[in-house]
Amino acid sequence: MDRGLCVSVYLNKNRGPGSAAAPHVLRLSVMLLLLLLALLSPRAAGDPGPRPGSWTWTRTRPRPSPRDSDVYLDLDLSSVRHRVDTRFLSFTIDASLAEKERFMALLSSVKLQTLTKALRPAFLRFGGSRQDFMEFQRSPWSCGLTLLPWWLEEQLKEEWAQFQEILIKEDLEADYGDLKFTATTVDQLYSFSSCCGLDLVFGLNALLRTKENSWDGANAALLLEYCQARGYRMSWELGNEPNSFRKKAGVVVDGQQLGRDFAQLRELMSRFELYRQAGLYGPDVSQPRHRRADILDGFLETGAQSIDAVTWHHYYVCGRDTSLNDFLNPDILDTLNDNITKILEHGAPGKPVWLGETSSAYGGGAPGLSNAFVAGFMWLDKLGLAASRGLQVVMRQALIGPGKYQLVDPNLDPFPDYWLSILHKRLVGRRVLRVEMLSQLGQGERVRVYLHCASKRSSSSGAVVLLSMNLSDEPAVLFLPPSVSSSSVEAFVLQADQPGEQGVLSRNVMLNGVVLKMVDDRTFPDLRGTRLPPADRLQLPPFSMAFFLFHEAGAPACS
Ligand SMILES: *[C@@H]1O[C@H](CO)[C@@H](O)[C@H](O)[C@H]1NC(C)=O
Ligand SMILES: *[C@@H]1O[C@H](CO)[C@@H](O)[C@H](O)[C@H]1NC(C)=O
Repeated sequence: MDRGLCVSVYLNKNRGPGSAAAPHVLRLSVMLLLLLLALLSPRAAGDPGPRPGSWTWTRTRPRPSPRDSDVYLDLDLSSVRHRVDTRFLSFTIDASLAEKERFMALLSSVKLQTLTKALRPAFLRFGGSRQDFMEFQRSPWSCGLTLLPWWLEEQLKEEWAQFQEILIKEDLEADYGDLKFTATTVDQLYSFSSCCGLDLVFGLNALLRTKENSWDGANAALLLEYCQARGYRMSWELGNEPNSFRKKAGVVVDGQQLGRDFAQLRELMSRFELYRQAGLYGPDVSQPRHRRADILDGFLETGAQSIDAVTWHHYYVCGRDTSLNDFLNPDILDTLNDNITKILEHGAPGKPVWLGETSSAYGGGAPGLSNAFVAGFMWLDKLGLAASRGLQVVMRQALIGPGKYQLVDPNLDPFPDYWLSILHKRLVGRRVLRVEMLSQLGQGERVRVYLHCASKRSSSSGAVVLLSMNLSDEPAVLFLPPSVSSSSVEAFVLQADQPGEQGVLSRNVMLNGVVLKMVDDRTFPDLRGTRLPPADRLQLPPFSMAFFLFHEAGAPACS
């Protein structure tokens, strides 16, 4: 039967993360064209059946009539919608690591450095609540990094795991004591980031203030002087979530004053050869809610000239008050979209907008969720959505540190989101393309897709990569337009190692059916995809995430 018959069925359904407000008439004509091309496609026959393994792949097969559950993809391979920073996927180290300076030595771990190097290029932001309580103390030159002996590494990991409980309690009570740090912290941080090929962003203390409540830059000057003397190329931030300074320290700094503080820091930086051209990012406000937007507005009035990117923070839910349902709820994923809209309304024109600190759940993450396979839905959707809205950089809280949302656990072994990050880093290129989903009954909302040019290191010119996830237990099939269905595919399908909805609570992730695990401290498992023949539809297993690399898409936007 003629597939063209289904066109009218798709008229009034336009849900999906990528769907902008395109008029229905346009949709109709796009669909007609798509379906026509599909009919003319020479490969409209033959079905090898499902492939072996834990997930299936279906090749072209004539279908009698469309089903409610069918989802059609509409891709635009000819124009670049946005171009993100080369360091789009970046991450943080929470300043709490420096609370006891000896823990900084963990950064000398071979295992941690191996894992981190694989995520370059990236920014490494050092900051968080404690940055506004830190004061630099000059100390004698330190002698640089030596590799950590195994027995010390074991001891530190153990102490660090215990100490995290104390840090989490402090965070909950927003009770921070003043914290002195020395050149040891700076040296270790800098060696780590430069050895791993990262660009260090150091968050300065904004709560060092004069009687007139303007920023006191004297301590920052000491630090810049030290860093310049050591030849450290790095960039800077000032203050973390200034909207909660009252709660954390009983100090109120309004947006305009904060903007003037940034101007003062910019002036200070200009006095240092090494930092005259260096990056300065801010104001690191929390996600938009009443007064926070005011702070951003005020800040941009007086501070926009001083900064190179506007930074804000985002968490979907509160770690102590959330559930598995939240982590699988497409409506919650969509709140990020609303937040981005709000921020972009405020953002300084011409300045890139960054998610300067972000994760699934605030308050240190949600135990059993933020570090499980299921957290990947929030992480992958955030990466996809942020890029599709033109955000340039997304800094994941955190590489290591206290809490439950780290990429790497206290034993320095990867959590599932680490594996997701490394695949994203390897496969996803800077150029963001448009993809829309057209489905009849809204199944589309539990299936989410994003499209980028493939990264240069993963494929040749013209290749595209589809980021997709299936949050559903309802049947739906994704139909591909001929522009990509004639290309061979390399599939990277991520699933929990346990089946079903409870399986997503696992802390193990499988790539194409094989559990991912480091071979040893220096050796990664095989991260290649599975090569598949061209197909006109994709079937994702329930509760899965996938990268589909279309090597021969020949996208004009990607050459
Ligand atoms: C931002 O998202 C949060 C949920 O994470 C929501 O409560 C808040 O209303 C959103 N703000 C805007 C302006 O959309
Ligand atoms: C999502 O998973 C369900 C099984 O729960 C499956 O029936 C459906 O086909 C999947 N959706 C896609 C687009 O593959």
